[in-house]
Amino acid sequence: MSHYQEKFQLGSLLLPNNIFYAPMAGHTDCAFRRIASLFGPGLTFCEMVKIEAVVRRCPETLRMLEIEKGNHPIGAQICGSNPSIAAEAAKFVEGLGFDLIDLNCGCPVNKVTKDCSGSALLRDLPLLRKMISAIVCSVSIPVTMKVRSGWDEESICVLELVQMAEEHGISGITIHGRTRKQKYEGFSNPLHIAEGKKRAKKIPVFGNGDVRDAETARSLFEKTHCDGLMIARAALAMPWIVQEIRSDFLHTPFIPPDPLEILSLHFSHLEEYYPPEKLLYQMKRIACGYLKGMRGVKKLRTACNHSKTVEEMKRNIHFFKEQRDVQDVADD
Ligand SMILES: Cc1cc2nc3c(=O)[nH]c(=O)nc-3n(C[C@H](O)[C@H](O)[C@H](O)COP(=O)(O)O)c2cc1C
Repeated sequence: MSHYQEKFQLGSLLLPNNIFYAPMAGHTDCAFRRIASLFGPGLTFCEMVKIEAVVRRCPETLRMLEIEKGNHPIGAQICGSNPSIAAEAAKFVEGLGFDLIDLNCGCPVNKVTKDCSGSALLRDLPLLRKMISAIVCSVSIPVTMKVRSGWDEESICVLELVQMAEEHGISGITIHGRTRKQKYEGFSNPLHIAEGKKRAKKIPVFGNGDVRDAETARSLFEKTHCDGLMIARAALAMPWIVQEIRSDFLHTPFIPPDPLEILSLHFSHLEEYYPPEKLLYQMKRIACGYLKGMRGVKKLRTACNHSKTVEEMKRNIHFFKEQRDVQDVADD
């Protein structure tokens, strides 16, 4: 039976567990990873980077690839469609100290797919084969790939992808059970993940899509027999979700942290990382994530959205927290 597992071997890497937090462009920055590391996911990722930007040493991209000491194990996700540039980018990324490199084969946005990158690689399997061979040959750390189940329902290619991965030295594959055509709509089909897992003889398969809590995590394990999970959106609202899944597996009670405490801590990391002119936008972005996972915060959400300064934003959170704590005492 597949389930949460402590100590998980992925290629040459020994990871603390098999619940990973997915790469998310615009979200999995250094501040997020600091927060995530408090809760111990098996693996976290930087934001996806374009291979061309890596080889050009684009300053913004290099900043995305900064790793902090306590942030291991950490993966870099690269995106592109030119095998020789991919090999060069992978080599450079390895030199930065990453533990693993993942190839993005799932990004659905036109800006990415128009040059055959991201999910468009699912429509050109010979090119994908060249990409993974080039990357695997250029580095000695494990290389993984994150795929969607196909371009559309008529072209599901999970079996080919798993076989190709195994033939070309890929150490693990994450399957998001949506097609490119679905983007983020509808639901992630566990059958596609189950098919991939059934086909895999040598490498682990990670299930991705619509895991929101311990129950949906258990269900995905049960339906697919996958070797581990990759969680994206729920980790933005509840960076402690790996602990909820762990407690469920160990049958120990789970007491979630106070989201507003974690949000305040996350704010302080953002302040270190972003210049003042970008801070308010970043705070609103993460507040939106945390508040999504909470009840009774409609007014706070509106107040945060309308905040005009960083101070106002912090005041709103602080005020809500104080009110809530007084209410809690009164309820006692
Ligand atoms: C805002 C956002 C950004 C994302 N960026 C990436 C990315 O850079 N690379 C990637 O492989 N997937 C990316 N994804 C997809 C997620 O990693 C994941 O496959 C998808 O959201 C389904 O998982 P979930 O239901 O746990 O969110 C992104 C998703 C979201 C919502």
